[in-house]
Amino acid sequence: MKIVVMGAQWGDEGKGKIVDCLAGDAQIIVRFSGGANAGHTIVIGNEEYALHLIPSGVLYPDKTVILGAGMVIDPRALFSELETLNRRGVETAGRVLISDRAHIVLPRYIDIDKKRDAARKKPIGTTGRGIGITYSMKSDRDGLRLADLGWKEKMDELESGDREFLDPYVDRLKAMSVDLASFLAHRKNAQVLFEGAQGALLDLDLGTYPFVSSGMSCAAGAAIGGCVGPRALDKVLGVFKAYSTRVGNGPFPSEFDPGSEDELCRFVRDTGREYGVTTGRPRRCGYLDLAALRYACITNSIDSLVITHLDVYDTLEEVKACVAYRVGDRVVEHFPASIEDLNAAKPVLRTFPGWKRPLRDRLTYEEFPVEAMEYIEFIERFCETPVDVISVGYDRRATIIRESPWR
Ligand code: GDP
Ligand code: IMO
Ligand code: MG
Repeated sequence: MKIVVMGAQWGDEGKGKIVDCLAGDAQIIVRFSGGANAGHTIVIGNEEYALHLIPSGVLYPDKTVILGAGMVIDPRALFSELETLNRRGVETAGRVLISDRAHIVLPRYIDIDKKRDAARKKPIGTTGRGIGITYSMKSDRDGLRLADLGWKEKMDELESGDREFLDPYVDRLKAMSVDLASFLAHRKNAQVLFEGAQGALLDLDLGTYPFVSSGMSCAAGAAIGGCVGPRALDKVLGVFKAYSTRVGNGPFPSEFDPGSEDELCRFVRDTGREYGVTTGRPRRCGYLDLAALRYACITNSIDSLVITHLDVYDTLEEVKACVAYRVGDRVVEHFPASIEDLNAAKPVLRTFPGWKRPLRDRLTYEEFPVEAMEYIEFIERFCETPVDVISVGYDRRATIIRESPWR
């Protein structure tokens, strides 16, 4: 079985935690997009791990984890991450592989990324990891893939600075390189998780362009970046928070109003620890945007939703979610492409009673307070998609699986 786990909002939904939870039943975990712009957190007891490039299944000693063809890989960041894991006792030798079709991020791309974003009239607020530049070199057909490291002619064409940078990494990268298409084709019956980075609304095609990342963080990207055909994917899981966050610039219609909702914003940011894993930036926070979530479900064939951070709302008297937008004198129920419309959009909010009890100790959905069930069941009806997994804390164990995706 092949299952995709992707973000259904603007990233940081808790994909790392959910992949780690589901990876117990998988043999192979493939990260299909993005690069070191991602930050995936896994908490097991007192241990917290922040992963940027390595797939979130790595903490199980028996899993093979693969950096897919859709990724852009900075060798310096990769080997530093591996070293950190090894120092913490996570053995990685021989079981971290990289698709030979993945592209390499060079240091000068990182410099260009930072300079170009700073020079933009409306900066995107990139993570400064060279991501956009590497993907544009790729689409310009001037990029460098792992497979090219053994191609003398291509290597000879590189600028001397690029060669000097790559030299200490070439042999190690080659040793980790794999033909992902054949690897998966030879393991047809394996249980495979395809781990996304970023989220549906940061996807280059489907997201809030140009305020997006440059990879394919959509479900279709799992097929392309995972070197399988679209019909090989059995299920798509969309992870979303009980509220919304966004790092960097760009439209965010359900963002808490800095004038009237500043206290709520601070509460959510502090309770949910909403600070970026990669850049440390405070995340922008807002209400759950159901119009956007429904759009993510439709455009990614999401079979099953995973709600995270529901515990953050434990103490609130009431909980609100955005069900449509008011743009001028129009009520808009779909998620618009126009950045002008999204910037002008005011959320139409629906209010739900709060449950005012901690959810953390509930072991089954049946033990949930009725108010929490009402919030979840409204989301299911609105998105016409079941919420099969509920996360009520950052720890691996704080997870309620109503319906296992592996079934
Ligand atoms: P990712 O990029 O989608 O993997 O998410 P991040 O790791 O960037 O951000 C999610 C943050 O929320 C991390 O600090 C997680 O430890 C934490 N987290 C994940 N699920 C939950 C949850 O259900 N409740 C709470 N309170 N925190 C969670
Ligand atoms: P994970 O996988 C949240 C955002 C950046 C910026 C925009 C473009 O942890 O969910 P880039 O450096 O990719 O060119 O930046 O995308 N961004 C993310 N936001 N989570 C992420 O990854 C992100 N990866 C990129 O903040 O607004
Ligand atoms: Mg993250």
